[in-house]
Amino acid sequence: MICLGVEATAHTFGVGIVTDKGKVLANVLDTYRPPEGWGIEPMKAAQHHEEVAEKLLQKALKEAKVDLSEIGLIAYSQGPGLPPCLYKGLEFCKKLAGDLKLPLIGVNHCIAHIEIGKLTTKARDPVTLYVSGANTQVIAFVGGKYRIFGETQDIGIGNALDKLGRDLGIGFPAGPKVEQLAKKGKWIELPYVVKGMDLSFSGIVSEAARRVKKGTSKEDVCFSFQESAFAMLTEVTERAMAHTGKKEVLLTGGVAANQRLRDMLSIMAKERGDKFYVCPKEYCGDCGANIAWLGIVSHKAEVKEKEHEIKPRQRTDDVEVTWT
Ligand code: ATP
Ligand code: FE2
Repeated sequence: MICLGVEATAHTFGVGIVTDKGKVLANVLDTYRPPEGWGIEPMKAAQHHEEVAEKLLQKALKEAKVDLSEIGLIAYSQGPGLPPCLYKGLEFCKKLAGDLKLPLIGVNHCIAHIEIGKLTTKARDPVTLYVSGANTQVIAFVGGKYRIFGETQDIGIGNALDKLGRDLGIGFPAGPKVEQLAKKGKWIELPYVVKGMDLSFSGIVSEAARRVKKGTSKEDVCFSFQESAFAMLTEVTERAMAHTGKKEVLLTGGVAANQRLRDMLSIMAKERGDKFYVCPKEYCGDCGANIAWLGIVSHKAEVKEKEHEIKPRQRTDDVEVTWT
């Protein structure tokens, strides 16, 4: 069985083709980029998705060297995400599934990140730290669900880095540039905000901006921002390990590219005698392969949908998980 999966929760439209053995045959995507200095406008992103959808479908089929007739299942990203974008994804998949008379299944975007991480690393039952632009969650499988043990109460760590980048005038996306500047920086104290198991990044972003205005060097601000924010993430992840007794950490999402964050988590895991895994870069970000693989996993577990619909506010722990 081969599944074609479509990611369309926010600015990325992705098409992935994956076999039931977990082989990724194609994973192509196109990301809507708002004009410099602007946030993402949902309607514009949705329009972008409509424009690129057919082209990406053809590109994926070509890359996978499969014909549409060989596809056995279609999966779409159901939520969480921006309603106009999710809707475009659903519409596209509904039409495709209808034309080809194939089963259609909606999957959760965040769980798709976890499952592809498990597929592509040796992690079996990890505490996952999912850190992307909009999302920051510490998740573990307990009692039939992927439960969120800690999360951001305001913005995601990726967006926090990008906001910092705007204040520093270093362009978008800022994560990789902040990482480079941090290598030459020294420590200054910045806010460290962990409330119970939850995190907040807006305070550290505003204080960093104030420091820059007062003349602290970009390097020092970037170094200290990373040290403070990543230590917060590591603290909450470690506490989730302690609470759940899990022996593996899985890092995923776009911010997983950061070597300093990897090092901190890896040291934490090593000191506990636990294992640390990072999702391979090509599957860390939003993409169709993640969605296609969760489609396969759900299908094998005989997950059935009463209705095909988008769920813009769906939470990771809303989903009944019967496959693990
Ligand atoms: P979401 O999945 O929440 O919709 P997204 O698609 O914006 O969000 P990703 O593509 O997973 O998120 O990640 C993008 C983020 O990763 C950006 O905020 C970017 O700054 C950050 N990022 C990329 N490389 C690095 C790096 N080396 N260090 C830190 N952050 C990084
Ligand atoms: Fe994502």
